[in-house]
Formats: sequence, C-alpha cells, structure tokens
Amino acid sequence: MKNEHRQVVTSRAWEDIYAQYEPGVSPGIEYPTDTLVKYVSNLRKDDNSVSAYFDDEGKELSIKGNYTGNALEFGFGSVANLKMVREKGFSCYGLEVSQETVSRGSDVLLKENISDIKLQIWEPWKLPFKDRFFKLVYGLGCIYYNLELEKVIAEIHRVMDKDATFLFSFFSDKHGYMEKIDHVSGLIYRWSDDHFNPRLRGMYLRFPQSKLEVENLFDAFREVDVFTWETDQLPCFQSFWFVRGKK
Ligand SMILES: C[S@@+](CC[C@H](N)C(=O)[O-])C[C@H]1O[C@@H](n2cnc3c(N)ncnc32)[C@H](O)[C@@H]1O
Repeated sequence: MKNEHRQVVTSRAWEDIYAQYEPGVSPGIEYPTDTLVKYVSNLRKDDNSVSAYFDDEGKELSIKGNYTGNALEFGFGSVANLKMVREKGFSCYGLEVSQETVSRGSDVLLKENISDIKLQIWEPWKLPFKDRFFKLVYGLGCIYYNLELEKVIAEIHRVMDKDATFLFSFFSDKHGYMEKIDHVSGLIYRWSDDHFNPRLRGMYLRFPQSKLEVENLFDAFREVDVFTWETDQLPCFQSFWFVRGKK
C-alpha cells in the first residue's frame, strides 16, 4: 500500500472517531493541555536562562497576555487549546484532517461569540498559508500521523516567521501504547489490531525511536530542544517527547 493511501485511511479513521461523539461538543479535551499552557506562558521570557526565567518580578501579570501575531494549531481536535492561545493575544488558526471536528469546533466558537479563531480542513502535506505567516506553530499528539513527516516539517518552516517558535509532541519509546504498535515498512508503523483503544486500531503513523531522531527531524531550526513528559496516573503509562525550537 502506498503512503498516500495509508494517509487517507488514517484521516478517515479520525473522521469516524469524531462522528461518534455526542452532538453539540467540540470533541476531545475540555481544558488546554498543561505543557502547552506552560510553554506559551513562558514565551514571554524568551530566554532559557535561569536568571531570565525568574526576572519578571512586579510585571508577572502584565506580560502574561501581551503576545501578537498569528498562531497555528495542527490537529486541534477540540478548540480548548486555541481558546487559551487566543486569550494570550495571538490571532489563531486551526487545521484538521477531519471535517467533523472543524464543523463542531466552528459551531462551539459561534455559540461563544468567538469570531477570530479560524478553523480549516486540511489534507497533508502542503500548508494553505503564505510564507512567514506565523509567530507560533504547535500540534499535540498529532504530527506523527503525517507519513510524509519531513515534507510537513519543511512546510512548517516555510510558514514560520523569523524567530517564530514551535512545539510538537511525539510518543516516546516508553509510552504504554508501544506494546501495541506494528512495524509496517521503512519508517511507517501502524496501531495493532489489539490496541487498547479500539478506535485507534489500523491507523498509520511515524514513530521516531529516540530523542535524537526527533531532534534531527527539526534540524533546519534553531535552539531545538526535546524534553520528556510522562505520568503513571492513568491505566496506560503515558510518555511523550516534546520538541520545541525557533526559526
Ligand atoms: C490524539 S488526537 C489529539 C487532538 C488534540 N491535538 C489534543 O491534543 O487534544 C490526534 C489528532 O490528530 C489529528 N490528525 C490526524 N491526522 C493528522 C495529520 N496528518 N496531521 C495533523 N493532525 C492529524 C486527528 O484528527 C486528531 O484530532
């Protein structure tokens, strides 16, 4: 099977998942993801040094939401993250492979009188935006569903402005789901037919095997850093590598 076809299989599977959600909701997370909240909040510090990190005494609140420019969320699923990023001052755009989630998200935004978050359906891998359009690009639990991952990352580089920042997450090799992944061929993997979550079974994905492999995917960027987030709070061990950096 060609990657083009596998990509369609995966996008359709997501569409089917979202169509099963109860009516009236933007499916997925109800509240923004903690790692993204911290990441966006700390952008105001624009420095990784410990002294700069604590150097906001007396202006902690006023600099928390003073961002400007455009932000893009890949594979948003729910509008929870976009609403948080909008509150921080960004003009927000969301891309999804599922029409269902674009429609549901748009309905929720309309109901809440939010007209400045634009949601769009998208087919990998070209991005429907002009060069250097975004100050921030992020995607959680989704970018590895792009089987032509290098092409998408090159597109992300193209649409990012100079000094713009990004954050993406990847499964780590310690994630509980790794018991339920099959190698297909080359760089392509597939969630196995006995995956814990029946809804994910048969989806194709990329799976970089180490932090270094993740880092190397982003070698066109500056200040690239991969950090781990994990918890045994849930029945299935969660372990992700987050990659951040700048153009
Ligand atoms: C595990 S959900 C995560 C949703 C959301 N980002 C979150 O953190 O709650 C994976 C998302 O990836 C989206 N997706 C599927 N194929 C994709 C692709 N090729 N590129 C980007 N996102 C994709 C799905 O539609 C789904 O919304």
